[in-house]
Amino acid sequence: MSDASPVASQRPVWLDDKTKSVMDRAIAREQSLSRMLMTYIVTGLVFMLLPGTFLGVWNLINISSHEAAESISPAWIQAHGHAQLFGWVGTFILGIGFYSIPKLRKLKPFGLREGWLCWALWVAGVTTRWLSNIYPWHWRILTPMSAVLEVLAFLIFFQAVASHRPSRGAPVPWESWVFVIIAATLGLLASLALNLGVSVQLALHASSPAFPHEFDQRYLIVSTWGFLVPMVWGFSSRWLTVFMGLRPLRGSLLLVAVGLNTVGVVAGFFELFMAAGVLLFLGAVTAIVAIRFFERPAKPAKTINVHGSFPIFIRLAYGWLLIAAALGIWASRAGQAPGIWGASRHTLTVGFIAAMVFSVGQRILPSFCGMRVLWSPRLMLVMLVLLMTGCTLRVASEILAYQDYAAWAWNVLPVSALVELTAVTLFAINLIVTFLRQPITVTTPLSMTTE
Ligand code: HEM
Repeated sequence: MSDASPVASQRPVWLDDKTKSVMDRAIAREQSLSRMLMTYIVTGLVFMLLPGTFLGVWNLINISSHEAAESISPAWIQAHGHAQLFGWVGTFILGIGFYSIPKLRKLKPFGLREGWLCWALWVAGVTTRWLSNIYPWHWRILTPMSAVLEVLAFLIFFQAVASHRPSRGAPVPWESWVFVIIAATLGLLASLALNLGVSVQLALHASSPAFPHEFDQRYLIVSTWGFLVPMVWGFSSRWLTVFMGLRPLRGSLLLVAVGLNTVGVVAGFFELFMAAGVLLFLGAVTAIVAIRFFERPAKPAKTINVHGSFPIFIRLAYGWLLIAAALGIWASRAGQAPGIWGASRHTLTVGFIAAMVFSVGQRILPSFCGMRVLWSPRLMLVMLVLLMTGCTLRVASEILAYQDYAAWAWNVLPVSALVELTAVTLFAINLIVTFLRQPITVTTPLSMTTE
């Protein structure tokens, strides 16, 4: 590489030629990896905004105007759910996983082509699924095909990041966060396999691509509590201990939490909803005690380049996790209770998962994506306040309206939807403007940016 290249301009001039060329290659790879991660993130933002949130708002406004939860097509509701869970959060997780897991575990680098192939298959799969739910043109072929594409993308991801080959020296011992991420990855595999199996069944025997309601309820427990929740715990235990200055992780207790959560997911899948609710609640309490969110921190939080309220929102998000599990117990006792089930689901997906993605995402993504600085920490505060407000309005009014406790609550639901839509739009704007700005300095190894 000539010394006029952008890479060459980023390393000191006094190095010998061999070291220079090793450094150039490392910097060039880091830049390609950051570009790939940025593509995953922007793709996730697109899924979040249009097929995900915009459709969710549209559905909710329709439900509210008819004052009936069952007034819209289940296929449209499921298109929204799939776009949010897999199109948005799933795409973020795959991108962050490709970027960070091999580095954190000091593994041999994977071929970038695998990362791009995974992206292409995943985007094709999730987009086809959304379209075939919205407009069932040739859905008997397209829905199973979308599920196959998603499984193939997952297998490529798994093979790239689950390698056991250390980059040099002895293998890094497995820390507890690695086991938690493995549990979450198995949850993702189970969700994708169920999705494939049922899509084939529906294509052969049903008249619509929508999953039957009873199966959908059980499937959602696997894809939310079985995949997303442990994934957030795994990354929380690896990064938040440092970012929030928490006391040392109780690793064994975190594994107990994952055990309780997994048994809860299995119980939920087999329709033992009461037992599932209790186990998921106990698992969430145990994870909070293990990661030590609510104990006095050992060091000040590292909030440089993000809003100083970052640790408060992380704690609020974990509070929503407990409320989601508690609502699940209530819903299981109440029987047919769409308002309580729906409230529990959005407490989890908006209050916990979206809030964690907003908070941790804006902390790590600017530096992972080529050493950038978040455009506006103040906007981060505004969007998090809006998200929490929208979530509170949504959860309260969904129970009151859908369960026939208070008719006026139907009028609050569209307001909650618009508040949440504003929050997610601001999140997308803050990240995209951040990516459009110039990086601040030389691309730095991950260990220096996260600790
Ligand atoms: C502006 C924000 C949002 C609005 C207005 C919204 C709206 C809705 C509506 C109306 C439903 C139908 C069931 C019900 O009434 O409870 C629904 C279901 C669902 N939503 Fe949302 N949602 C939003 C955000 C999210 C987010 C951020 C996620 C995930 C990260 C999510 C995941 C789901 C899932 C998984 C379902 C169930 C789908 C199914 O039944 O298969 N939603 N949402």
